[in-house]
Amino acid sequence: MRQPLVIANWKMHGERSSNRALVSQVEKSTASVLAKTGGDALATCVVCPPYPYIAETVALLGDSAIAVGAQDCSHADAGAYTGEVAAAMLADIGCRWVIVGHSERRQYHRESDALVAAKVAAARRAGLTAVLCVGETQEQREAGVAEDVVREQLEGALSDARSLEDVVIAYEPVWAIGTGLTATPEEAQAMHAHLRELMDTIDGSSAPKTHILYGGSVKATNADALFEQRDIDGALVGGASLDPEAFSAIVLASVRA
Ligand code: PGA
Repeated sequence: MRQPLVIANWKMHGERSSNRALVSQVEKSTASVLAKTGGDALATCVVCPPYPYIAETVALLGDSAIAVGAQDCSHADAGAYTGEVAAAMLADIGCRWVIVGHSERRQYHRESDALVAAKVAAARRAGLTAVLCVGETQEQREAGVAEDVVREQLEGALSDARSLEDVVIAYEPVWAIGTGLTATPEEAQAMHAHLRELMDTIDGSSAPKTHILYGGSVKATNADALFEQRDIDGALVGGASLDPEAFSAIVLASVRA
């Protein structure tokens, strides 16, 4: 049984004061979800603030049920890599999760599957859970190659270890990110089922336990239908995660599913 997992990707939004307020509102609204579900079925919740606010977010959340993640990490463990942040540094300040291979990193920073693979490996060495993002563009979907693209990204990122230990997959069609367009629940389920099959060939013992999240314009209004699908185990939420009410409604939907 995969307990629902909902991850907030705050991207490069907010400032210190607004992010402090957001942390406390998210904590409160998530606690109210816990109350509604009788306290026995809460989803795992993770928030990923921008780097400068991570340490403070960890401190503010203390021993609350919400964990903290980062939006990226370096492929290297340490050294002369100006501007990079090592996975071990993130672990050191209380991060337990890290997003890798987000399409915005692939697109704006030209991250290749090989680099993403090195980041997954670095996250693992530091004891973090890597949230590996895959997803096709609109053109690739229209050309009928979406499944191939996603397979290459998945296999490329896991080529070293051939293991799904400490990995969560996030399927995020690029055309759905921040656009208000969402894959239909059936389209998303079809890709998640494809991913689950591929994962089975990579690491058969972990595949059934490994979460596959959907991401791309997840909102309070479409979360229920997405989470009803058999292979959708939660969500990676961008825009809606900046609204504590919307985020907690998505968490509640994941628990109800
Ligand atoms: P969105 O972003 O929810 O704003 O579409 C999702 C993501 O990029 O992870």
